[in-house]
Order: sequence, then C-alpha cells, then structure tokens
Amino acid sequence: MSNRQLIMRKPMIVGLLAFAVGSTVIGFTVQASEPVAASAVQDQSAITVYKSASCSCCTGWVEHLERNGFDVEVKDTNNINEIKMSHQVPREMASCHTALIDGFVVEGHVPASDLKDYLARAAYPFGDKTIGISVPGMPHGTPGMETGRQDSYDVLAFTATGQTESMKRYQF
Ligand code: CU
Ligand code: CU
Repeated sequence: MSNRQLIMRKPMIVGLLAFAVGSTVIGFTVQASEPVAASAVQDQSAITVYKSASCSCCTGWVEHLERNGFDVEVKDTNNINEIKMSHQVPREMASCHTALIDGFVVEGHVPASDLKDYLARAAYPFGDKTIGISVPGMPHGTPGMETGRQDSYDVLAFTATGQTESMKRYQF
C-alpha cells in the first residue's frame, strides 16, 4: 500500500468533528446557565481504544490509562490493520492497538504522562499534518509491556507520510 492511499482517507476525522460539534451544542443547550459545563464537554481524558479481543498487552495499556485518569472506551476488532489504514497510521508507526482522542491518533504503548503532555501542547511538530503519536512496535518495559526487560524507546509524533519527531526519549 502506498502512502498516497493512506492520505486519501478522511471520512472518520470528519465524523469525529461532527460528533464533537454535536456534543458541544448539547452541552450548551442543557447547561446554558452554567458556562463551566462547557469545559467538561471538551474533557480530553475520554479515549477510544481499538484492539484485538485477544491482546493482553493492549488490556494492560488500557488499565494503565484508567489508573491515570483517562475514561477509556474499548472497541474490540478483528481487523486492526483496517483501523490503522483508515486513520493514516504509516506502517513504520504501527503497534498492537490504535486509539483516538481529541482528534489525534495514539498508536501503541504510549505512557499516559506523555499523552497528557502531548494533548496539552500549544503547537504540534508538523502543524495540522500531525496525525498523532506512537511508540512503534512493542518495546519491552512500556506501560502494558512489563516483561521484566527494559528497552530504550521514543514517543514519536508522526504524519501520514511517515515524518517523525521525538517527543520523549526513554534511554536505558
Ligand atoms: Cu501491545
Ligand atoms: Cu496493544
């Protein structure tokens, strides 16, 4: 599959935007006298995780997110590669699970602290070309991959065409 094919896909992102707009409208309608409620609607801690039902390290990562305050919705799928393709995750960035939060893709065993830092950024490495962040493959010692061995790894911001920039380096 070429990068061109990956770039061509957009419908899911449009769908998410439509949902976000809809939620905001509901939030304002119901809580019109309480402007504070609008921030709850935009809470960045709600995350959707796509994974295979049999993936135990994926479940380990989900539990790590929950322990760190994320509201996780798990969606088991038999075709995780299709999810990755439809969300513009380049092959080199791929890991076992794919998650969506606040319009970004989170691929693989990204530590919750780095995800929070990333979501709090004022700007992203490649501007609006940034798809999200990834810990490619499945390095040992990442959250959900506590095997007793500790690999060095990077948390990478990436684009659909495979440009990357390290957001954090774990060197062991
Ligand atoms: Cu895994
Ligand atoms: Cu996984």
